[in-house]
Amino acid sequence: MIGTGYVGLVTGVCFAELGHSVTCLDIDKEKIEELKSGISPIFEEGMEELLPKNIREGRISFTTHYAEAIPGADLVFLCVQTPSGEYGKADLSYVYSAVRECVTHIDEYTVIVNKSTCPVGTVRTIKELINEIVPEKECDVASNPEFLAEGVAIHDFLEPDRIIVGVDSSRAEKVLREAYAPLIDKGSVFLATIPQSAELMKYASNSFLAMKLSFINEIADFCELVGADVNEVAYGMGLDKRIGTRYLKASIGFGGSCFGKDVRALIHRGEEEGYEFKMIKALIAVNNTRYLTTINKLKKHLGNLKGKTIAVLGLAYKAGTDDTRDSQSLRIVFELLANGAQVQAFDPRAMEHFKKTFARANEIIFSTTALETADSADALLILTEWNEFKELDLTALKTKMSGTLIVDGRNILDRKIVESAGFTYEGIGR
Ligand code: UGA
Repeated sequence: MIGTGYVGLVTGVCFAELGHSVTCLDIDKEKIEELKSGISPIFEEGMEELLPKNIREGRISFTTHYAEAIPGADLVFLCVQTPSGEYGKADLSYVYSAVRECVTHIDEYTVIVNKSTCPVGTVRTIKELINEIVPEKECDVASNPEFLAEGVAIHDFLEPDRIIVGVDSSRAEKVLREAYAPLIDKGSVFLATIPQSAELMKYASNSFLAMKLSFINEIADFCELVGADVNEVAYGMGLDKRIGTRYLKASIGFGGSCFGKDVRALIHRGEEEGYEFKMIKALIAVNNTRYLTTINKLKKHLGNLKGKTIAVLGLAYKAGTDDTRDSQSLRIVFELLANGAQVQAFDPRAMEHFKKTFARANEIIFSTTALETADSADALLILTEWNEFKELDLTALKTKMSGTLIVDGRNILDRKIVESAGFTYEGIGR
């Protein structure tokens, strides 16, 4: 595994758990030292157990040297970041530099598998690059997009809806099929296709899920105008098996390191071909202004936010992770500060990341409990659907706060219960 981020580490640990011998490589020495002692740099359900177990049982090791990781490997998985570059274009510099570093160490037939999310055509470009550097080496290049969601990534790997590989050699397909055999034997679908299709499946899947989210968020706003309840509308829609109930939870908007980045990269790749993704552009536009619905709900009740104290519960872009990348909380907190509000915030996992990445973190009062966050607050915002926020002690909250407004950006509270405790309740689309 080249790269020990969410994808590389989860894939490495899970392949080891399946019985393979895995070496994980990263250029970050500190991270590798921690991993060697069984400490995971990411919070991921199941990692604390599986990482030390597989180290102990000798199936996984860590290194910073390509010369240790590559020789003898049947498969080399590229799991490096592909950040958003100029105009949303995927920046592939980490992918190409990993390829350059690794190919010189190949000693026998190896399949280089791209797991990093890269635009259509990248497998072909990697092949051309290898042919330029080491034409004599025996290797194939494949695409194997990942569909892991943070927080449940280990579960997603071990019980995938599908395993997709993009290959143009039956030899490479065979090696990949063998690697995934324990999952295939348990019934996982293994779909082998050409590289371009596999690459596009990843972008099309993320864009489709993001489209469902922007779609239901638009419906939610309309529900508020006509007195409908978006939870009921989504449930009723989802009973139609062609639609399905998942990814129809209306919210403050989607976040995370993938949806926004991948959708923008697809739009950019389209432009390179002279093609315009009209619908996909629209889903991004809906999400880009989504934070304003939360701000407007506050303004509706509190008027000018200047000098108001707002308690923010939830900084992670979703529950189950400490990740704050592209979290809607970043935009909402920024807007609150821009409006002159005083922000008090709490998240059970993500406060450290938030403090490191949010430029105006020093203007925020961070609390250690949800209740403490509400101290003297004019309003309380719920931005992440953590379980502990579903069980807030409303009586204690009422005495802590100076105001009575709760804006539930995840629809996790029951309006009737909240209102009968003396609060004004604003949900999303209901
Ligand atoms: C997403 C995809 O779900 C994975 O399949 C994919 O592999 C991954 O991106 C990736 O490309 O690496 P992830 O970003 O971890 O996974 O998070 P999701 O669980 O999909 O949630 C994304 C955002 O949508 C979050 O902000 C979440 O709160 C929001 N969401 C999700 C909703 O607002 N409503 C929903 O019904 C579902």
